[in-house]
Amino acid sequence: MSQRAHSQILLKGSAFFLAIGAAFVWAEKIEAVPKKVPPTVEEIKAGKMLFVKATCWGCHPHGDNSLNGDKPLKGPRFAKKYQSDEELMATIRRGSVTRGMPPFPPEKLSEKDLKQIVVFIRSLTCSVKP
Ligand code: HEC
Repeated sequence: MSQRAHSQILLKGSAFFLAIGAAFVWAEKIEAVPKKVPPTVEEIKAGKMLFVKATCWGCHPHGDNSLNGDKPLKGPRFAKKYQSDEELMATIRRGSVTRGMPPFPPEKLSEKDLKQIVVFIRSLTCSVKP
């Protein structure tokens, strides 16, 4: 075997091992991303109860919007508009005073209850039904 062919094999060999190494590092990174655990039926039900208790259901029966039909709390357009729960919670806190939705400050709705309500709202768009 010529010197050149030999070093080419060596080069290919190390590239191969480098690729395997990189794949492992990559896989570990993926593993490190926390997986979002889907809510249980009980958690969704608890969110629904709070949604009713906080008066949301009155204007948003089944996640619809009886005052502004263009703004239901479900469906692909809604999901795209509120990609993060933080944004969704901020909108609920703020309300839309001039357009018929009252604000829900912490005195009216605790952070814990708001989070639970968001679990229910998200379940309305989820394609997997419990
Ligand atoms: C008195 C009626 C009323 C009540 C009570 C009410 N909402 Fe609303 N809500 C509305 C209206 C009307 C809009 C649309 C406002 C607009 O056009 O900007 C709206 C909008 C929203 C939106 C934004 C929708 C979008 O597409 O941007 C969310 C989220 C929401 N409501 C959640 C809630 C939650 C959660 C509660 C209970 C804590 C609640 N609402 C209580 C009337 C109400």
